[in-house]
Amino acid sequence: MSSSENVPAALRSLEELARDTLDGNWRDGYTLPSPKLYPFQWNWDSGFIALGLAYYHPERAIEEIRSMFKGQWKNGMLPHINFHRPDPNYFPGPEVWKTSGLPQGSPQVATSGITQPPVFAFIMERISALPFGQTADWKTFVREMFPKILAQHRHLYTHRDPEGEGLVYIQHNWEAGTDNSPAYDAALDAIDVSGFRDVSSLRRDLKTVDALHRPTNANYQRYIYLVDLFIECGYQDDVIARRSPFLVQDILFNSMLVRSNQALVTLAKAVGADSSEIERWNARTVAAINRKLWDEEAGFYFSYDLRHQRRIQLKTSSGFMPLFAGICTTAQRDRLAQHLTHSFVTGVGANLCTSTAVDEPAFDPVKYWRGPIWVNVNWMLHHGLRRHGLTELANGVKQQTLALLERHGMWEYFDPRTTATRPGVGLGTDAFSWSAALALDLIRNSNAL
Ligand code: DGY
Repeated sequence: MSSSENVPAALRSLEELARDTLDGNWRDGYTLPSPKLYPFQWNWDSGFIALGLAYYHPERAIEEIRSMFKGQWKNGMLPHINFHRPDPNYFPGPEVWKTSGLPQGSPQVATSGITQPPVFAFIMERISALPFGQTADWKTFVREMFPKILAQHRHLYTHRDPEGEGLVYIQHNWEAGTDNSPAYDAALDAIDVSGFRDVSSLRRDLKTVDALHRPTNANYQRYIYLVDLFIECGYQDDVIARRSPFLVQDILFNSMLVRSNQALVTLAKAVGADSSEIERWNARTVAAINRKLWDEEAGFYFSYDLRHQRRIQLKTSSGFMPLFAGICTTAQRDRLAQHLTHSFVTGVGANLCTSTAVDEPAFDPVKYWRGPIWVNVNWMLHHGLRRHGLTELANGVKQQTLALLERHGMWEYFDPRTTATRPGVGLGTDAFSWSAALALDLIRNSNAL
């Protein structure tokens, strides 16, 4: 890790902006992803944010993670949103999720009823390697958190993998975090929503962000249809698995689970716990990703629609996440790199990595997860490429990401059509916390992950 004195001047002001952004979004124990658009605590955001906090407010990193796990359900599920305090500026809020009083719910905090990709094990592994990670406070905290993260992973393996394949399913596109990725279009479009309520007037996101940059009203109707179905099923995973029209073995979610399992093994060793159960889970998931989600003909990884029993043949940036998991052969790596440099960039001099391949008909350069560049994906891609020995490409992704942030600021996502004559633009909300937090990690920490 470089000390702040070694940070080049140009990056020092970026660092300052990143810290100001995180400070501005801090709320007495946790960080909002952005005050305008996301006024609560979100699950995977919180993990990335904790990593950024570790560089300059490490005690806040502990508070951030502890606050997130206040929402953990008794069955181990870590919800995607903790509604610590009421705020009318978000839809769907706790009155829509209706999780209060559930026997398996959180005894401490109002929450949503679905999860998000597991990040806390690898975030804590990375913080453990920083100087702060050597302190007694942090080591005690790792002991406190280990059983909770283990319970989170166990929930996924016992509730979300009905056939014991080693692949967990998501029951809502919001669980992958790549909300309106075209990979979910066919499954969502197949839902019969005739007669279901129109929720468009309830949306709050369109008050601050251009509708062209957000999911459509037709999308939202289906998103809420699923939430209502979960309520009807009492949020019981086995009932949902039987009844829901949407069950997807998501490639990003399962790859991040593998990376988290690997880190959880390291944390287990640090606290003197047995890691054999985690290693068994992980071996199954690695094998299943390469058996079921790799398409040899396309040379790419795809998610699998478990409800309709078919691979989702649509190229999105999620297909690169097995690199982050470190599970690709050299041949697979090379084919992925081909796709990356040819189909996930809008032209010569433009930036990696579009969230949907440019040659997919659904590609849209400004619409959320249908084309724009995301900092967290680029961060995982950087580490995945490095892990597989593609150092130059990995460094390119890092430099481009920092340049985008430096030029435009801490936006949620970016129009990928950047060239020397046409600078890209920041999209979604500004002052976005994970863009700030991961900028700090990219600047301050050159260790591989
Ligand atoms: C949103 O509200 O757009 C979130 O991504 C859902 O978690």
